[in-house]
Amino acid sequence: MTGDRADTPGLQPRMLHHAGHVTQDAAATVDFYARILGMDFVATVMDDRVPSTGEPFPYLHLFFRMADGSTLAFFESPCMGPPSAPSHPAYDVFNHTALAAASTAEVDAWAQRLRESGVEVLGPVDHGVIYSIYFHDPNGLRLEITTTTDPSFDDHADEARADLEAWEAAKKRAAAAGGDVAGALLELIGERKEQMRARGIRTADELDTP
Ligand SMILES: [Fe+2]
Repeated sequence: MTGDRADTPGLQPRMLHHAGHVTQDAAATVDFYARILGMDFVATVMDDRVPSTGEPFPYLHLFFRMADGSTLAFFESPCMGPPSAPSHPAYDVFNHTALAAASTAEVDAWAQRLRESGVEVLGPVDHGVIYSIYFHDPNGLRLEITTTTDPSFDDHADEARADLEAWEAAKKRAAAAGGDVAGALLELIGERKEQMRARGIRTADELDTP
C-alpha cells in the first residue's frame, strides 16, 4: 500500500540532528537565535570548500542548540547573492521550521517576548490539535513555535495513507481526462473536511483568518 514503511528493523531516524539554511548575515542570525530565541550558540565551522562535494564555496557554518540537544544550522558564504524569488507566494508559507513549546501558555509567552523584541508575530492560531505562532527570522525563514493540544494528532496513520491514495488518484484521474487537476483536488479537499474535523483539526474556514 502507498506509504508503507521500508522493512528496516531498528533503523529509523532518532531525532532532528540539525536542519541547515543559508544566511546572508551571520551576525544578525546569531543575535536572533541566541539573544531573542535563547538558543545556545554552540559551534562553528569555517572552510574554503564543501567537505561532502569538494565544491569551492567558502563558508562560515553556525550551530544553535535547543533544549533537547537538536540544532539549527546556518551557512554564510561570500560567493552567494540573495536567493531568487519563489515562483509562488505559498513557498514562503509552506517552507517553514516548527519549534516545540511546552504548553499553550508558553506559546503565548513566546508571542509576547517576540513582539516586545520587535518581531512581527502571526497568531496564536488554534489548529485544534496544535497551537501555534508564526514569524520570520532575519533570513526570511518562516518559523513556528507550537505545542500539541491533542496528543492523538499524529496517531492517524491509516487515515494518512487513505488521504495520500485519494490525493494521488484524484490527480491521476484528472490528468488522464486532460482536465483540471487543481479543481479535482479542491473537490477532494471539500469532501474530506468533515473527516479532518473528526480528527480534531480546525479547518481554515473555522478560523478567524482573512
Ligand atoms: Fe507547521
